[in-house]
Amino acid sequence: MPLRLLPPTLINQIAAGEVVERPASAVKELVENALDAGARRIDVTLADGGRSLIVVQDDGAGMTPADLALCVERHATSKLPTDDLFDIGFLGFRGEALPSIGSVSRLTLTSRTRDSDSAWRLTVEGGAKGEPEPAAGGPGTRVEVRDLFYATPARLKFLKAPRTETQHAADVINRLAMAHPEVAFSLSDGTRSVVKLGAAQGDLFARRLDRLAGVIGREFFDNALPVEAEREGIRLTGHIGLPTYNRGNAQQQYLFVNGRPVKDRLLTGAVRGAYQDFLAHDRHAVLALYLDLPPREVDVNVHPAKAEVRFRDSALVRGLIVSALRHALAAAGHRASTTVALGALGAARPEGEEAEMRRPALPLGRSGGQAAWSWTPPPRPAAGDLAAAFAAQAPQGGFFEPAGRLPNLSAPPQARDAGPAAEAPRRAAAEHPLGVARAQLHGTYIVAQTADGIVIVDQHAAHERLVYERMKQALADGGVARQGLLLPEVVEMDEADADRVAARAEELAALGLVIEPFGPGSILVREVPALLGDCDVKGLIRDLADELAELGEALALKDRLADVCGTMACHGSVRAGRLLNAEEMNALLRQMEMTPHSGQCNHGRPTYVELKLKDIERLFGRR
Ligand SMILES: Nc1ncnc2c1ncn2[C@@H]1O[C@H](COP(=O)(O)OP(=O)(O)OP(=O)(O)O)[C@@H](O)[C@H]1O
Ligand SMILES: [Mg+2]
Repeated sequence: MPLRLLPPTLINQIAAGEVVERPASAVKELVENALDAGARRIDVTLADGGRSLIVVQDDGAGMTPADLALCVERHATSKLPTDDLFDIGFLGFRGEALPSIGSVSRLTLTSRTRDSDSAWRLTVEGGAKGEPEPAAGGPGTRVEVRDLFYATPARLKFLKAPRTETQHAADVINRLAMAHPEVAFSLSDGTRSVVKLGAAQGDLFARRLDRLAGVIGREFFDNALPVEAEREGIRLTGHIGLPTYNRGNAQQQYLFVNGRPVKDRLLTGAVRGAYQDFLAHDRHAVLALYLDLPPREVDVNVHPAKAEVRFRDSALVRGLIVSALRHALAAAGHRASTTVALGALGAARPEGEEAEMRRPALPLGRSGGQAAWSWTPPPRPAAGDLAAAFAAQAPQGGFFEPAGRLPNLSAPPQARDAGPAAEAPRRAAAEHPLGVARAQLHGTYIVAQTADGIVIVDQHAAHERLVYERMKQALADGGVARQGLLLPEVVEMDEADADRVAARAEELAALGLVIEPFGPGSILVREVPALLGDCDVKGLIRDLADELAELGEALALKDRLADVCGTMACHGSVRAGRLLNAEEMNALLRQMEMTPHSGQCNHGRPTYVELKLKDIERLFGRR
């Protein structure tokens, strides 16, 4: 067969095959063009999921008649002034989008520059270009794409239901909107408004958070931590969700590189690394991260729809993300998600008030997320000081009602509140963010009084977290403290299990558990980690055996520390169902205050819930 050059229409259609896969990809290109033109408001309308009509209207710089005639030609672009593909300052750079769209649809462009008093129109049908002619229209550009893929009907067969296609377009618009909060966006399917985002105000972080809340949801606003870091000219900013605010998939992890939404496995991996201590394997963080780096550090010309980029130094970027996220999470201290308290209160509240409740009580600055439900950790006193201060305030006998004894109801109520004994908890409560333990309920929940509310702690989840954090620290510091058992304990189990446990003796010793094989199917336990307190040795070894069976031989225990510690904590002194005295409860609260990340357990569930007095008052209709 003779070798020949393909006709231009066919060349454009081939290019279109890569650039325009479905209506949403055309929407992406057109909205990007509007952003590049400096638009402040972009309105998109779809009919039939974009199949019969896509309209993108902007108030950007507009085009002259000469621009109009040129812009639909292949490789015509105004965005590469230096001829340098590594100096890209716009979303577009190839001059391919409009000719591609024009080759597979009926395309009409109407545009007016800001200093012209009339608009011009140009039409392209299946690749055949008309002449610019005068038209009616305000400043900016209006692009209409009719009958997408009419020139390449095979493509039509791949389109999904209009609703699905509209949803894809909404997704594209939302992503671009997250990167450009100062621009107003709307999407309508002709009858319904699908996206409606007003231009956000305030400084960069405030604008972004506002926009993110608009896209991801109001709850993100209350549960987001700001992130800001810089390394070797690469700047990372953004908002990340508290671990307790998590999702079943990673779809709400957004990455933007120089204002461009991208998908990048590097991000997913880095986020997993940063959150690994705080989330179960099947839960995912919600976040939006913005990387800004010199154009030379990143290649954006690697994907037909520009959905991926390549970093020159991806290890540097990954390291920056992991460390910035860890830092932000650590700075959050033991703050837990607001959704828990909101959910609980929401269920108990009369209808209609809920929406009002979800509004944070305080204006959010760039510090983010200081809603009514959270608190800012005070500077941490040293452990010794706290314990001493606490001991000094604790009246004889503690301030909680010992389990089983009824409060003395015959005394006038104020009598119980008067005197120095009642003063102490109030003073202590003011000093300790998690308050003073007042009671233990159902052998599982510690109820504490804080300066302006109450805190309910899940003692088991909290203890599990503490064991983990302490274990991690101890390992980093060179060793886990152990306590010898008065009488070594023999634990019997099936032979395979015993062998598995025995094979890990050395690793377990590093974690504070000293064991040795003791004949077939038996393990002798000599020492246990001191931080477990009184522990159920038999239960612990048996559960560890199960854990090891599940783990297989491939992974070191240190790599599954969260799980191992979880198992250990289950048999420690503060497990669920164990009655605690006042001292033990308060000790637990004080430890939580001093321990980073103690607001959630190893699986991303909260360890405590705080209710402010004013919210409790609302519950009872007092406010
Ligand atoms: N909404 C708009 N407002 C003003 N000018 C526009 C608009 N859309 C397109 N243009 C002009 O038309 C040119 C061609 O647009 P097109 O999208 O085809 O290519 P590009 O944006 O330069 O690169 P890419 O193919 O990577 O998107 C642009 O460079 C720009 O000068
Ligand atoms: Mg473009």
